[in-house]
Amino acid sequence: VPLQLADRYGRVATDLRVSLTDRCNLRCSYCMPPEGLDWLPTEQVLTDDEVVRLVGIGVGLLGVEEVRFTGGEPLVRRGLLDIVSRVHAEHPDVEMSLTTNALGLARTAQALKDAGLTRVNASLDTIRAETFAEITRRDRLHDVVAGLAAARAAGLGPVKINAVLLRGTNDDQAPELLRWALAEGYELRIIEQMPLDAQHGWSREAMVTAEETLERLEREFVLTPAEEPRGSAPAELFTVDGGPGTVGIIASVTRPFCGACDRVRLTADGQVRTCLFAREESDLRAALRGGASDAEIAERWRVAMWGKAAGHGIDDPSFLQPDRPMSAIGG
Ligand code: GTP
Ligand code: 5AD
Ligand code: SF4
Repeated sequence: VPLQLADRYGRVATDLRVSLTDRCNLRCSYCMPPEGLDWLPTEQVLTDDEVVRLVGIGVGLLGVEEVRFTGGEPLVRRGLLDIVSRVHAEHPDVEMSLTTNALGLARTAQALKDAGLTRVNASLDTIRAETFAEITRRDRLHDVVAGLAAARAAGLGPVKINAVLLRGTNDDQAPELLRWALAEGYELRIIEQMPLDAQHGWSREAMVTAEETLERLEREFVLTPAEEPRGSAPAELFTVDGGPGTVGIIASVTRPFCGACDRVRLTADGQVRTCLFAREESDLRAALRGGASDAEIAERWRVAMWGKAAGHGIDDPSFLQPDRPMSAIGG
């Protein structure tokens, strides 16, 4: 039997999510404060060579089948294109995708596709310029929309859009965002906000639940649960008005999918995280820089995986938000 990233609950991680930087060029209010955060010092961030080697160990030795690059904002990482093409050259069968805010994607979408990237998911919470500026604190809606169109044109699809609804800011815009996404051919997914913001400002009362979102959408659309099996996908899919358009609901908090989770994460500074909400990390960078062999690193990774918790535990009285915010873990 080849080695696998299995945990004690019988789950096997085949979906590797690699954060390439903790930096970002937006300042979404549900993610980080206006002034940004104390970014990781450069010497702590994995080099392109180190990223390519760790991904290679995951794919070559540990059964990883899909690699998703995240941030912060992965497009601000200078080596992104190089990393994508090197991973693709070594492992042409591995699916490689990007979760991005799409700023600057208009310039790089075709090159990313040519380098071997398969798909793009992009964050977009509104199609109103004022609301976009209010949420992200940057007046860049136009660049994002152009980036999405470029990804679609380059064949980096189906392009999925991730939207977080904030009460009193854009929660009443869900139907208009869906109408726009359907017209553009993007697959909208509406996400429940999780307690992962740097400011620790999340509250369950302020969170717009999946139930509320569905109720709002159903006032204007007929939603039918999609028939295809969901597997380990975080999104529950609904067909809109008889199809072919769909909308996804990612109810991480109120309908957790941890039991089917097939994910493992690598932070930009080379720590394995078995879950967004993991309380512990395992330092692969230290092993790497200490001269460990591929097999030794793989073993360390497997041991870390065994410690993966059954679920995120947001509902437990003892729940503690992780020390790292989402921008430093990866989306
Ligand atoms: P696809 O394969 O394209 O469906 O990707 P995805 O939905 O897994 O990836 P994406 O990066 O677009 O993530 C979408 C949203 O799912 C994120 O913004 C998170 O809110 C949520 N999410 C991603 N990973 C996890 C996870 O491990 N746990 C939980 N609870 N939520 C997650
Ligand atoms: N809860 C849920 N989703 C979040 N995102 C960022 N912060 C949070 C949060 N606290 C989303 C972004 C992006 C993806 C990577 O994660 O909107 O689409
Ligand atoms: Fe950047 Fe994503 Fe955080 Fe927004 S949610 S500030 S795009 S890392």
